[in-house]
Amino acid sequence: MRIDIITGFPKLLRGPLNESIIRQAKKKRIVTVGVHDLRKFAHDRHRTIDDAPYGGGAGMILKPEPFFECIESLKSKRSYDEIIYLTADGDVFTQKIANELSLKQNIMLLCGHYKGIDERVRKKYITREVSIGDYVLTGGELASLVLTDAVVRLIPGVLGDGESMLTDSFQENLLDGAYYTRPAVYQSMRVPEVLLSGNHERIGRWRRRNRIERTKARRKNLLTSRS
Ligand code: 6GU
Repeated sequence: MRIDIITGFPKLLRGPLNESIIRQAKKKRIVTVGVHDLRKFAHDRHRTIDDAPYGGGAGMILKPEPFFECIESLKSKRSYDEIIYLTADGDVFTQKIANELSLKQNIMLLCGHYKGIDERVRKKYITREVSIGDYVLTGGELASLVLTDAVVRLIPGVLGDGESMLTDSFQENLLDGAYYTRPAVYQSMRVPEVLLSGNHERIGRWRRRNRIERTKARRKNLLTSRS
């Protein structure tokens, strides 16, 4: 998979994209992540990427030309399955959307900043708009990292056998359950006996039950929306 991220603030992305699972996926050549600096596509003396909104009002808007130029340059190299704009008024990101995107070949992510981007960029190129939740961020950069992380870890081969994503919270609309590691007793707190039993059928049933109980206690709404 290839993910191209267009942003006016590339430094917000570089650190997180070079650590942990995303770093490993890149090293294994399972994913390529391109970060594209909008400013390189601004040609005035000050490399201006934003301007005041027509009609007045507070806040700045990212100008259309740098986006058009950057997007066209990327599209001339390959075709994109999705061009996604990260925005607080998009569809709320879920595990279902992450699962869908993990099956794509090439996706492009556009990060807004300040009040947003010129509407003509959205009209011409965007196939999908995604928000990561009902709160406001300064820009789409952190959201693009959240989306990239959630998607990349689902691509086969990225996680090892020992780190299966099949029991992650939200897969099957269930939260993940409790885990323990050694020691078996710590500060008088015991690991549940069943987990030490070696009986994998019993352990499987206990884990399932634990996930359901936890979901019932914390997120009852997930149990009624099971698909
Ligand atoms: Cl994707 N962008 C911004 N600016 N704010 C957000 C968001 C995205 N998702 C939630 N809040």
